[in-house]
Amino acid sequence: MKILIANWKMNMLSREAEAFCQAFKAEYIPKDGCEAGIAPPFTFLREVASQLAGSGVKTFAQNAYFESKGAFTGEISMAQLKDVGCHGVILGHSERRHIFGETDENLVKKIKAAWEFELLPVLCIGETLTQRDAGFTLDILHSQLEVLKHTGPGPLVLAYEPVWAIGTGRVAEPIQIEEVHSFIHEELWRLWSHHGTEVPIQYGGSVTPENFEGILRVPFVSGGLVGGASMDPKKFQRLMMQMQA
Ligand code: PGA
Repeated sequence: MKILIANWKMNMLSREAEAFCQAFKAEYIPKDGCEAGIAPPFTFLREVASQLAGSGVKTFAQNAYFESKGAFTGEISMAQLKDVGCHGVILGHSERRHIFGETDENLVKKIKAAWEFELLPVLCIGETLTQRDAGFTLDILHSQLEVLKHTGPGPLVLAYEPVWAIGTGRVAEPIQIEEVHSFIHEELWRLWSHHGTEVPIQYGGSVTPENFEGILRVPFVSGGLVGGASMDPKKFQRLMMQMQA
């Protein structure tokens, strides 16, 4: 399966999201084996989910907490995401890890909680520029993937997003993407055996309609997690068509 997900981060207002959904839906033609998802901010998840209902485009949240309810001021549970029509949840995005202190320990709990409420987790991993320059890229990814040893196998999408390529306009070279994606593929086999081979591995980080075709040709790339270019329905539609080609 290939999957393209729009990560809107902390952008847009509900009326802009509505206009996006109308424009995207008008052009979108689903294709077997290719999934599309949109991850809007929490405040208009329900509206986006209901506008996309029946179109085949799924709604994702950008984060959630692992407890199902209780005194956790400011947090949102998996149960609450399910309640507003969410299909999945992005977990461990580098902005969550680096700005908000997300830990691998919490991610184990979050993935299990997502499964409990039948949500599809999209686990993000990636190295910083300092780690890459020091030659630690694969060690970092290896340690981030250890989360999956503790969860055991289940439905999952993995997103490789080099931190230095996110929002910077500096996309990773196909050769760099190939090295990492084939490493992740092997790690998934080591951790989950045949279950691991079913996990789509997205690339993310400054994806645009200009560079996506080349990225999609890289072995073991099965889609994209897109920030900046995903907020324009025309660009997102072009990315979708490139993935479906
Ligand atoms: P970008 O963001 O496409 O703007 O680099 C990607 C992401 O953070 O998921």
